[in-house]
Amino acid sequence: MQTRSLGQQGLKVSSIGLGTMGMSMAYGPSNEDEAIATIRRAYELGVNFFDTAELYGYGTGHNEQLLGKAVKDFREKVVLATKFGFDMTAEPLGTRFNSRPENIRKVAENSLRYLQTDYIDVFYQHIPDPDVPIEEVAGVVGELIQEGKVKYFGLSNTGSKTIRKAHAVTPVSMLQTEYSVFEREIEDNDIRMTLNELGIGLVPYSPLGRGFLTGAVKPAQEYAEDDMRRHDERWQGENYIYNLRATEQLNEVASNKGISVAELALAWLLAQGEDIVPIPGTRSAKRVEQNVAAANVNLTEADLQRIKEILPHGSAGSRYPAGMMENFTRDS
Ligand SMILES: NC(=O)c1ccc[n+]([C@@H]2O[C@H](COP(=O)([O-])OP(=O)(O)OC[C@H]3O[C@@H](n4cnc5c(N)ncnc54)[C@H](OP(=O)(O)O)[C@@H]3O)[C@@H](O)[C@H]2O)c1
Repeated sequence: MQTRSLGQQGLKVSSIGLGTMGMSMAYGPSNEDEAIATIRRAYELGVNFFDTAELYGYGTGHNEQLLGKAVKDFREKVVLATKFGFDMTAEPLGTRFNSRPENIRKVAENSLRYLQTDYIDVFYQHIPDPDVPIEEVAGVVGELIQEGKVKYFGLSNTGSKTIRKAHAVTPVSMLQTEYSVFEREIEDNDIRMTLNELGIGLVPYSPLGRGFLTGAVKPAQEYAEDDMRRHDERWQGENYIYNLRATEQLNEVASNKGISVAELALAWLLAQGEDIVPIPGTRSAKRVEQNVAAANVNLTEADLQRIKEILPHGSAGSRYPAGMMENFTRDS
C-alpha cells in the first residue's frame, strides 16, 4: 500500500488506516478473536496505522488492550494512535472532558501499559476541554514527547483558533475530525485552510458515514439497544430515506467501476488531498479487505463530478444528536 505523510514531523503511514472503536463500543456486540484477526489481517494487507482511544474502552482499557495484543509481534512496524481528554466518570460517557495535565499523564501511562509498548506514536487530545487552556495541553504533550513516551501530537474535533494556539507550543501533526461524502462541514469552514497553511495532516473519522456509506444499513429501530445508530439523525425518518436514495445512486457509480460503495467513499476521501488518511472501522477481516482495496481505486473527474451532483453538501441529518459532542469543532 502507498504511504502518506501526516504533518511536517516525519510521520508516514499507510494511505488507509484502521479504526478499532467498533471492536469495543458504538456499533453493537463484538467478538475479541475476530477483532484481533481483523487487526492482523489489516496489517498483512499493508495497513500500519491503527486508531484507538481511552474512551473506546469506557476507561477500562479494553480497546487499547485488544490493539496491543493484536500487534504485539510487529509493534515496531506499526503506528499506534490513541487519545485522552474525556472524563471517564461522566454519565453518560462523552458529556464531560478532562485534559488537566495530571489526567493527560495518567492516561498516557495507562495507554502505554494497555498497548504493551514503551511509546505511543500519536497522542491526540480527543476533544477540547473548556476548562484547560490548549497551550497547557500542548505543553504537557510536548513534555511527553521530550520524555520519549509520545512521538507525535494530534488534535481531534478542534476549531482553527485552537489548532493554531496548540501548534505554536508543540507542533501538531494531524487533525482527526469527521469527514466523508456524508459529512462535509470541514469544506466550508476555515479548518481546511489552517491545516494547509500549517502543514498539518487530516485524518477523517467515520469515513463510511458510520456504515451508511456501505449500503449495509437498516432503519434505526432495528439496531441493537447499545448501537448509537438508533439515535443518529441520519437514520431517522425523512433523513434516512434521503440518505438511502443517495447511497443507491453512489452505488450505481461504484458498480459501473466494478467497486463497492465503501471503496468509492474511501477513494473519494483519498482524492480530496495527499494529506488525508482515512481510518475506516470494521470488526471483520473480510470487510477490512474490501476497505483496503480502495487504496488502488482511481476516481476520474467525471466520477467526482457525479458524486458532487448526488450529494453536494453531504447527508441529511447532523453527525451527532443534540447535546452529544455538539461542540465538536469548538475553539477553547
Ligand atoms: N475522534 C473522534 O471523535 C472519533 C469519532 C468516531 C470515530 N473515530 C475513529 O474513527 C474510526 C472509524 O469511524 P467509525 O467506526 O465511527 O465509522 P465508519 O468507519 O464510517 O463506519 C464503521 C461502520 O461501518 C461498517 N463497515 C465498515 N466497512 C464495511 C464494509 N466494507 N461493508 C459493510 N459495512 C462496513 C462497520 O461494521 P462492521 O464492524 O460490522 O464491519 C461499522 O458499523 C473509529 O473506529 C474510531 O477509531 C473517532
